[in-house]
Amino acid sequence: MDYLKIHNVASLEGTINISGAKNASLPLIAMSILAKNSVHIKNLPQVVDIKTLLKLLSNLGATCNFLDDRVIVNTTSLHETKATYDIVKTMRASILVLGPILARFGHCEVSLPGGCAIGQRPIDLHLKALEQMGAKINIKAGYIEARTPNGLKGCEIIFDKVTVTGTANIVMAAALAKGVTSITNAAREPEVVQLCEVLHASGVKITGIGTAILEIHGTDGKLLDIEEFSVIPDRIEAGTYLCAGAITKSELTLTNVEPKHLGAVISKLEEMGSTFTITKNTITIHPSIKIKPVKIVTQEYPAFPTDMQAQFLALATQADGVSIIEERLFENRFMHVSELQRMGADITLNGHTATVNGKMDLCGTDVMATDLRASSALVLAALVATGETNVHRIYHLDRGYDSLEKKLQDVGANIQRLKE
Ligand code: EPZ
Repeated sequence: MDYLKIHNVASLEGTINISGAKNASLPLIAMSILAKNSVHIKNLPQVVDIKTLLKLLSNLGATCNFLDDRVIVNTTSLHETKATYDIVKTMRASILVLGPILARFGHCEVSLPGGCAIGQRPIDLHLKALEQMGAKINIKAGYIEARTPNGLKGCEIIFDKVTVTGTANIVMAAALAKGVTSITNAAREPEVVQLCEVLHASGVKITGIGTAILEIHGTDGKLLDIEEFSVIPDRIEAGTYLCAGAITKSELTLTNVEPKHLGAVISKLEEMGSTFTITKNTITIHPSIKIKPVKIVTQEYPAFPTDMQAQFLALATQADGVSIIEERLFENRFMHVSELQRMGADITLNGHTATVNGKMDLCGTDVMATDLRASSALVLAALVATGETNVHRIYHLDRGYDSLEKKLQDVGANIQRLKE
């Protein structure tokens, strides 16, 4: 297994190019199951989760060709409708193939994704919505067995909770359904917006894109001719590097970024003292010498994203004063806290709320990544900890960050990837 060896440096400087969004890429790849043509996907990030989903599609009979600036996915020869445990267990977002396969073939079996480090992460809302659309769902031996004897029919769906992949799954199922599906309390994340925009550009009439009420006019089983598209920039990767600039008090410029997807993150960094120069697709952070404490509550987009909670918690250890960070989406998303405490952070956990007493000088040591965003929080802490930090189990990090150590090396970080 790999690990990252990191030494603190005086500061970082330069430009970081942001990759395509992992959480946009996954539903867009699943969407290719709805296509009658080859789907040209540009700006896919080179991360493990994308490779996993492409492998899953290949196992189902699709072909994936990698060119220098795009991946071409063709599902016309797709013949298998069972997503097996061996792949699904490694990436719960595999659940995103459920809606498309069911819509196209009328039956499918998908391994239950199970929980993950950050929480139970049930999929009851996905299944309930598909049943409302006419699917017969049976859970047997750890698999979701779904069939639609009479095809999926559009209907009115109201999600009890905002669910990102739940919304994506139902939008894709509704795209081929008979009639109109309305989704109330739909996720408004940019990743869901891009999925809707690509489907709309490919002939599926969708209204309310970007709002909490979507209306999808299904094609009644007709496969789609999907337009070529480029994946939107990864707002969480971008936010992570903005935190790197803030925590090391370095001026960094991000390129190929979408500033309008980072409103809540930039606003919180401004509260903590940073200022910004922003253009159409670049963001330069001008960090403050003294970092102010902050209050954060994670909520659905466009509010502060849960996927940035761990990174801001690491940053808060360097703030002068007490920061309060409340995690409202997942029940176990503070596993980075114990590792940060081992580095010397003064953090108190009380249920879903972390109280961070800063400023605490951190000391480098061996730490263990526990989940994707916790890993990046440990890297941020290591950039300012005295001495050497070794971040172990970075297979978590590789799931969602494209070339992280290279991007940080290119702006002056002392970081190496080594073998255990
Ligand atoms: C997506 O996960 C993201 N993953 C997550 O990013 C992100 O943290 C999350 O949305 C919230 O923004 C992808 O897009 C691949 P949810 P998802 O369904 O869709 C509950 C990362 O770091 N819920 O929006 O699985 C659920 O338990 C990852 O890149 C149900 O109760 O999240 C949670 O409390 C981590 N029943 C809340 O809703 C359901 O059927 C939000 O979950 C579905 C969800």
